[in-house]
Amino acid sequence: MTIHTNHGRPDPRRAASCAHHEGDAFDILETCHDHIRQRLERLQAVAEGLRDDGTFDEHRLAMLTDVIAFLDTAIPIHTADEESTLFPLLRRHPEFKGVDNTPMDCMEMQHRVHQDARRDLDVGILERDAAATARAAMNIVVEYSDHMRREEEILYPMARRLVTEPVALDWMADEMRARRAAAGLTDC
Ligand SMILES: [Fe+2]
Ligand SMILES: [Fe+2]
Repeated sequence: MTIHTNHGRPDPRRAASCAHHEGDAFDILETCHDHIRQRLERLQAVAEGLRDDGTFDEHRLAMLTDVIAFLDTAIPIHTADEESTLFPLLRRHPEFKGVDNTPMDCMEMQHRVHQDARRDLDVGILERDAAATARAAMNIVVEYSDHMRREEEILYPMARRLVTEPVALDWMADEMRARRAAAGLTDC
């Protein structure tokens, strides 16, 4: 079947301007997961330090600031890749016609939970509360890691099976590259 995109064929000038993002749309999504996972490992290391000795020093604050700066740029872009590009395509597929509670709905609900967890981290840092910051950081690590695993094991394989037309794949990749170019995000 034909999956209709909103904008037709991609603009090759946009694609060429982001040549560092190789691969198809699903490769971009999975590569972004890898980069987010690297930062979650660092976040976990800081959280374990805060939890174990309760010391909220400048070094740990700098590590948190660095990780958060990346996550606050990369995650909204990655979420838009899914919620504004991939999921609308999937919802128009006959397989989901009249279906309630799709895997996409579940993933979107989890995205909202992640935003709450992110706010908890801000509160802990603002109050220089080592225990609260450690809890909030570990919550983000656990929740987001599990979310990515579900997408990689269930949602992305399903989407790869349903979205196969070159025009749809090109359109998705072009949207994703354009988001990164607009945000100056070069490593996700
Ligand atoms: Fe997601
Ligand atoms: Fe994802």
